[in-house]
Parts: sequence; C-alpha cells; structure tokens
Amino acid sequence: MKSSFSGNLSFTIFGESHGSAIGVTIEGLPVGFQPDMEALRAFLSRRAPGNSPLSSSRKEADLPEFVSGLFDGRVCGGPVTALIRNTDARSSDYDTNGDGSQKSQNVPRPGHADYTAELKYRGFQDYRGGGSFSGRMTAPLCIVGGLCLQLLAQRGIAVSSRAVEIGGISGSAEALEQRILQAKAEGDSVGGIIEVCAAGVPGGLGGPLFEGLEGRIAQTVFAIPAVKGIEFGSGFEGSRLRGSENNDPFRMDGGEVITASNRSGGILGGISDGMPLVFRVAVKPTPSIGKTQQSVDIISNANTDLTITGRHDPCIVPRALPCMEAATAIVLLDALLERKKEEPWT
Ligand SMILES: Cc1cc2nc3c(=O)[nH]c(=O)nc-3n(C[C@H](O)[C@H](O)[C@H](O)COP(=O)(O)O)c2cc1C
Repeated sequence: MKSSFSGNLSFTIFGESHGSAIGVTIEGLPVGFQPDMEALRAFLSRRAPGNSPLSSSRKEADLPEFVSGLFDGRVCGGPVTALIRNTDARSSDYDTNGDGSQKSQNVPRPGHADYTAELKYRGFQDYRGGGSFSGRMTAPLCIVGGLCLQLLAQRGIAVSSRAVEIGGISGSAEALEQRILQAKAEGDSVGGIIEVCAAGVPGGLGGPLFEGLEGRIAQTVFAIPAVKGIEFGSGFEGSRLRGSENNDPFRMDGGEVITASNRSGGILGGISDGMPLVFRVAVKPTPSIGKTQQSVDIISNANTDLTITGRHDPCIVPRALPCMEAATAIVLLDALLERKKEEPWT
C-alpha cells in the first residue's frame, strides 16, 4: 500500500478509520517554521464530521497531537509526526445484520471500496468504516495541507474553494443545502462540483512532462476519495472553442506580463504563468446510502440485498472543500521548494 507523497516535501499518512489513531509523518518542512496551531485546528474543523446536518453524525473533534519534529513550537528539523485519536468509531455498523453474522467485508457496499479492497488484500484488510479507504484519511492530509497553506500565505499565496454545483444544480448556498437535505431525507446522497482557486502563485512553478503542475495537482487531488474528474481552466468546454476564442491574449500591465483572460487556468506547458490557478473537481454522490441496494454475499456466492445502517455524509462536497485546498497547497509548496533549488547561479 503506498500512502506516501514523495517530493521536495514528503509525507506518509497512516492509520485506519476505526483503528486507534490516524496521522501523518512529514519531512521537508522548512526549519524554524512556527505553525499557528489555532489556525490549523480551525482549518481541520471544516473537514471534521458531526458539525452540521449536511455531514455524518460521527462526532470527531479531530484535534492533532504533535508528537515529534517541533521544539519550542517551531519545526526543528526531524520528521514532524501528528496523530489524531479516533474517539467515536462504531464498528458494529459494519456488521450488516447487527450481530456480526454479515459484515460489509462479505457483502460489499456498491460504489465503495469494500469489493476492490477484498480483491487486493484478500481478506486481511481492516474493512471497518472503510479502513484506509475512508474519507477519514483526509484528516491527516488536511494536517499537512493546513501547514502548507500557512507557509504559502507567508509568500502571498492564498488557496480557496467553493461548491459550484450540487446534485446537478447551481445556485445560492441555501438552494445547494436544500438539495443535500432533500437527498438525505430520501435516504439517498448527491455529488457535486468544486472550484479551486490559488491566487498569488508566481510564474515559473512546475515543468514539462511529468513535472507538470496539472499532473501533480491531479494526482494529489485524486488521492481524495470520491473524486472522479478534474478540469483546468476552460477544460472540457475549451475543447469546443476555436483557438482564437480559447487563447488568452498577453498584455502588459504596469511593466508585468498578464493575460487578458484566464482560460488556461493559470498553467501553460505544465508551468504556472502568474495568473490565478483555477480548476474544477467532480465529486461523486456518497456511496453509502440509506436505501436498500443490490449486492452479493461473497462467502455464499449469492445475490443479496444490503441495507446500510451506519452514519454517512449525504454529500461529500462540503467536507471535501478543505481537502481540495490542502491537496493544492501541498503541490504548490512542493513546487515552490523545487523552484528554490532551481535558482540560477549568479
Ligand atoms: C471527506 C470525505 C467524506 C466521505 N464520507 C463518506 C461517507 O460518509 N460514506 C461513504 O460511503 N463514503 C464517504 N466518502 C467517500 C468514500 O471514501 C469513497 O467513495 C470510497 O473510498 C471509494 O473510493 P472512490 O469513490 O474514490 O472510488 C467520503 C470521502 C471524503 C473525501
């Protein structure tokens, strides 16, 4: 299982949804950096469950405990390890008969990773709460990303995100919320589209081929469960335009080169062009729903019905917003550290 991001910044995410703890070990954070723990906790609480009728009722404060790598509140050079204890796991939800006789490992949830985890790990996987496939594994991702966001802010870079569509509709925050609550009331779920923007990104980050910012962002964003698509700038819509319509004209602005439009989403040739980075992410509807679904019992090899009783998000989008910001910040900080090493010898 590869749970590591390896670049100028490296980290490994560990733990399972219903194990004793989840966490992350990070290497490559700049020495002397003093994380703002209050800001980090506020960031993590946007992702934590149990804070709203739009999210799972599993109640987890998600307070990180830093056990190494900080001295006097500053990064001291060794690996930084942060833990989050799991305090509200209810593993009996994954015995689908409630008495341990039928487990989600034996009757896989449609749309979830139960079946593919079984194929890969041959029965040894921790299936409780989705194990390492749980959306809960994005909490450690948000610890790293939260720290990266603070470092980027010190260089004038701000990453933000918003839901632009829920369940096929766009509109006011209230309308989108209603769409989620309606699905929840019907024992169902909805997906949506998230737009991410990074402002203040300097030109020159990234590179061609496998160094390209789009590829690096896509790979990190796809580490977030339930992500099914990504488009940069004008994306799929741009493919329907003419070159004359899709190209962004270059202009001079107070001695600086800018583009008059931003259909490239701030990236040309895999390299940032100094305009805001803009991309959109498709998030699928939550697979675990209240409605009875068709599945199979892989022990008796028979078709069966499955009714899921656990606590689940009726829509993943609201809790995925900070995850998208975290993934983006990780790639941008990694590219910024790389850029530092590329400075010409003068
Ligand atoms: C923040 C977050 C919360 C999630 N919550 C749930 C949930 O409550 N129930 C569920 O079935 N899936 C949830 N998921 C999605 C599943 O983890 C995901 O669909 C599953 O692992 C299969 O992976 P895939 O959809 O990427 O193929 C969540 C994902 C994220 C990012």
